[in-house]
Order: sequence, then C-alpha cells, then structure tokens
Amino acid sequence: MSSPSRSGAFSEQVDRRLEKFSESISFDHRLVLQDINGSIAHARMLAAQELLTEEEAAAICRELEIIGGQIQSGEIPLRIELEDIHMHVEQTLIDRLGDVGRKLHTGRSRNDQISTDFRLWIRESIDRVDLLLLELQQAFVGRCTADFPVILPAYTHTQRAQPVLAPHYWLAYCEKLERDRERLRDCRRRVNRSPLGGAAVAGTSLNIDRHATARVLGFEEVMANSLDTSSDRDFVLETAFCLTTIMLHLSTWAEEWILWSTTEFDFIELPHAFCTGSSIMPQKVNPDTIELIRGKAARVIGNLQQGIVLVKGLPLAYNRDLQEDKQPLFDSFETVEACLELAIPVVAGSRLKTDSIAARLEDGYLDATTLMEYLIKRGMPQRQAHHAVGSLVRSAMTAKLQLRQLPLTEFQQLDPQIDAGIYEVLGTENAVRAFLSYGSTAPGQVQQQIDEWKKSLGLP
Ligand code: ARG
Repeated sequence: MSSPSRSGAFSEQVDRRLEKFSESISFDHRLVLQDINGSIAHARMLAAQELLTEEEAAAICRELEIIGGQIQSGEIPLRIELEDIHMHVEQTLIDRLGDVGRKLHTGRSRNDQISTDFRLWIRESIDRVDLLLLELQQAFVGRCTADFPVILPAYTHTQRAQPVLAPHYWLAYCEKLERDRERLRDCRRRVNRSPLGGAAVAGTSLNIDRHATARVLGFEEVMANSLDTSSDRDFVLETAFCLTTIMLHLSTWAEEWILWSTTEFDFIELPHAFCTGSSIMPQKVNPDTIELIRGKAARVIGNLQQGIVLVKGLPLAYNRDLQEDKQPLFDSFETVEACLELAIPVVAGSRLKTDSIAARLEDGYLDATTLMEYLIKRGMPQRQAHHAVGSLVRSAMTAKLQLRQLPLTEFQQLDPQIDAGIYEVLGTENAVRAFLSYGSTAPGQVQQQIDEWKKSLGLP
C-alpha cells in the first residue's frame, strides 16, 4: 500500500529505493503520542469550526486514542511504505473509519504537524532534563555540610593557585547547572509556540481556529507567520545548544574528578560501583563512567553542529532536509539524560581523601596572595607587594620552606613595622579564613550560599 500522500498527480508507484531512503518512521515513531494528541486537538477544533460534525470528530478521537496505544505496543506494525508517523496514524484511521478518517488532515499539512509533534516532544524532554539537573544540584549541595571543613587547592592553568573550601567547588557546579536550567526554561518558551494550522506554507482558506488548538495543547503562543512556521528550526538548534552546555559542564567536572582520582592527585575515591577494572592490570580501578561522560560530550557537540549545518542556506520554507533534524536531537537528549543519571550517584557516592589532601595542602604557596593582600592593607602598593611576595616565595623555595616557616626578620625587611600578626594570614587554613569578598571562599560566605541553595533546592 502506498502512502496517502501520493495523490492522483503521480504516474507511477514509488521506487522501493526511495521508500527506504526517505522513510522516517524508524525514528519518528517516538513522536506517536504527540502526533495523536496534536491530531485529537485538531479534530476537535475542526468540529468546533463546523469543518467536521461532532460525530465525526468523536469517532476520529476515539479511534486515535486506540491507534496511539496500538502503535506503542507494536500491535500496529511500522512499515516504511507509510513513510512517517503521521502517515501511520492517518492510514490506520482511514483503514478503520473510511471517509471520516479521510477528513482528519483538513486544514493542516505534515509541515506544521511535524513541527507541532517535535515541539511537544522537546517540551516534555526539557522538563525531564530539568528534573535531572535539579537532582544533580541536590547531590552537590548534599555533600556540602560533611565536606565543609575540607580545604582544597583551587587551580588556574592547572597550577595550584589559592585555597578554597570543598563546598566552594561543589557550589561552583551548582551555579553552572542553574544556568543550564535557566537556559532550558528560556528556550522552552520559544519551543512552546504553536505551528499547528500554519499548514504547508501559506496557511489555509478554511476557517480553522489556531488559537483553540494551541490552548488545548498547552502552547503559550501561536506562531504568527506561516512561512516562518513551516521553516523554523531555531527551537531545535537552541535546545541542542542548551544540551551542549550541560555536557560541557559535565565534561569539565568529569575531567576534574578523573584527575583528582589519579595517584598523582589522590584527592577523591569514586564509588567502585561506578568504576571498572582492567582485563590485564589487576590493580586498576578505572573512572570509566566519568570518562565516558566526558567522551559523550563530543556526540552532543556534534549533534548541535549537524543541526546548524543542516539549516544553513535552506530557502524558505519547509524542505525535506529538515527531516534530518530529529535523530541528532533525540540522541542529544538520550545522551544527556544517561549522563546525568550516572553523574548523580557518582557525585553523591564519592569520598574525599582528606588525609592525602591535607598532607600536601601546604605545597604550592596557596597563601601567597593573602600575604600580598596583608601587605596592601598595611599601605604597600599592590605591584610592590606582588613583587616582594614573589621574592619571598623564591627564597622560601630555595630553602625548601613554606611562607609561614620564614623568620619574622625576613618579613621585616619589607617593612620593619611588621609583627608576629603576619603569621595569622599564613598557612592555608589562615588564608581561607582571610577571604571576605562576596562570592569568595570565605567560610561565612560559603555557609550562607549553602543555606540559600538548600532552601532553593528544597533540601533540609
Ligand atoms: N518526516 C517529515 C519530517 O520529519 C515529516 C514532514 C514531511 N513533510 C513533507 N512535506 N514531506 O520532516
């Protein structure tokens, strides 16, 4: 049987090779529920506009519900001759209802239909990802109280820079994930606009009510230009970008914890349930979960790239190229969700190796900046203090000493007024306590942020 979309204009049957080449049912079957819901909304609107009788609409809606269940359960087989999900639903309806089924496609096209289905699907998927992002934030915040006293080196250029509280690290990821959630929320507003009834490209001469279908389907707005409606894929690209930033954040986190779990760093032990072994080296416990998260970021980036290249230079309006927008985005959602599902237990179940962290915490002169700021507070110009502390660090390195182990006389060469009070900003613990600016790692600041995060994420 050939697709109902082949009208009387065709002089021969479709070539089997084209059928196989052009089908999308193998992947757009995922949109079955959205397609059914969109069709039900459309049929009810047609009845309200007297383009169908109430009885016809009722019969169509009743049958559509059944067909949706049967496609999902596999009872209705998927056939490439029927091309896509729209044709599977419509042809089945026609097989069962005859001419009544033939009326459903009144006043719409597959061009607005696919955009409707995809938007509905993306909208739900965004909501699922938002929930997972929330759970990951909760996992980070959930660690903050127990890890509060742990001081870690913060790095710039992967070189030890300044000391920070461990929860300062965890909340850094919460901030990034919060922006990811914000971006998704904002993107969702543009996803959530109704293309339905834009029809093929110019609208329709039938008296449809686009606002009614939009309302029923939960769309916040109706797209105002049918040419734009038929061609717009910004919502796909934007979503793909939002998913990409999530993966970039996960990838940064993964990379950091991969490093931290090495013998060289020895800061963290990942839960063994999420590690794998080596087939030859018996001692190995490998961080494969987070390595794969880092690796899968590449797919999601690639999917965004594919979408961008796909739409580049397409003339208005719908072009069949646009069928290629779906698999990459399906893949991005699947990947992001899988990664988040694994990141949550890894974050919650990892253990900071506090002894090992503490044993080397005084390495790297993490207190040098606070020492410089101590001199600034005593009136020394910043550039002079910066230079002076640099020289102190150099002589301490030569003597294999920490700054706090230098004799008072060394500091007094910079300023004879300096007294033993200087030792109160030296050493990493003192240095951490010395911070006070908004957003810094000052313990009071961090504690306040933990409290705020707990409140906003609904944690006790
Ligand atoms: N499978 C198509 C897609 O994903 C559905 C829309 C087809 N429209 C058309 N006029 N052939 O884009």
